[in-house]
Amino acid sequence: MGTSIPEQVVTNDDLSEFLDTSDAWIRQRTGIRERRVVRPGTSTGDLAVLAAEGALKSAGSGEADLVILATTTPDHPCPATAPDVAQRIGLTGVPAFDLSAVCSGFLYGLSCAAGFIRSGAAERVLLIGADTYSTILNPTDRTTRAIFGDGAGAMVLRAGHPGEPGELAGVTLGSDGALRDLITIPEGGSRHPVGDELTAEGRYFTMRGKSVYRHAVQRMVESATRACELAGWRLSEVDHLVAHQANARIISAVGERLRLPAERCAVNLDRLGNTAAASIPLALADAATAGALRPGHRTLLTAFGGGATWGGAALTWPDITPVAV
Ligand code: UT7
Repeated sequence: MGTSIPEQVVTNDDLSEFLDTSDAWIRQRTGIRERRVVRPGTSTGDLAVLAAEGALKSAGSGEADLVILATTTPDHPCPATAPDVAQRIGLTGVPAFDLSAVCSGFLYGLSCAAGFIRSGAAERVLLIGADTYSTILNPTDRTTRAIFGDGAGAMVLRAGHPGEPGELAGVTLGSDGALRDLITIPEGGSRHPVGDELTAEGRYFTMRGKSVYRHAVQRMVESATRACELAGWRLSEVDHLVAHQANARIISAVGERLRLPAERCAVNLDRLGNTAAASIPLALADAATAGALRPGHRTLLTAFGGGATWGGAALTWPDITPVAV
């Protein structure tokens, strides 16, 4: 695994200087203290390259025969960012594509990577989750500015043996397009193309927080439970829940419903906020680096995001050292 977060820290107090919000509100309602934000000119691809380099270093080889980049904030609307990232890390020629499943992107990518490996179409897959939401947020919208941060996390996957630490034991994914408006950038796509007269607000990311919250808790609980069933584990046997870092209240509601004590539920959003597709790999790497996640630990992942999309995965933690770049 490899990770990369921007150097620039934006605290809740920093936001309160130009938005009608407060450190107390943001902490109480979300658990977030600060987030990392890229400086102008730094792109999602730049963070993805660093995280990918860290992952290849951690894996002990620069080789991969497929690159998947989960992101909603590509460097350009066209083409995909993954081929550029692949070329920049010395993987010119390998297949590379972007995957768009918003905050569930890393779990969708994990399922894709496993499918490529199981079918024999790839041997080593470099999976990256990277987002720079600071580039799509409305600067005047306190309901989103307080939540999101930028970052990237990457993982190298390879074929292994049943029972080997690192085994992906179960994955489940889902979606419901009827919820498309809950999380959206309303304009600038083919439905309201850039040639039309666009509104200033419509080009920015918008989220109906309360509704997202409700669906997120329900779908994350269901997906985590299903992933556990697919792995043949009982929930009581799970060592760690690493849920998408959307909101500390969502994580504790999901943990409570799964009857997992708080100390088994990973939280790093206090320092990073919601980093979208990067949030699960960043939380995994932090938990592993802190020694909370140890080889063989039964680890349950779950996420909910725009689309709406959701997913769950069960894996045993491998014996690896994540590299932060
Ligand atoms: O990553 C994809 C998944 N995303 C999520 O899972 C996010 C899920 N949603 C949430 O985490 C929460 O809904 C939020 C943190 C976004 C909002 O918390 P909430 O407790 O659901 O608040 P709310 O939306 O019901 O808003 C309550 C009040 C509103 O004011 P009025 O209308 O009651 O006057 C908001 O305008 O809080 C206001 N508010 C704020 N006040 C101060 C919303 N954001 C802020 C803010 N500072 N940053």
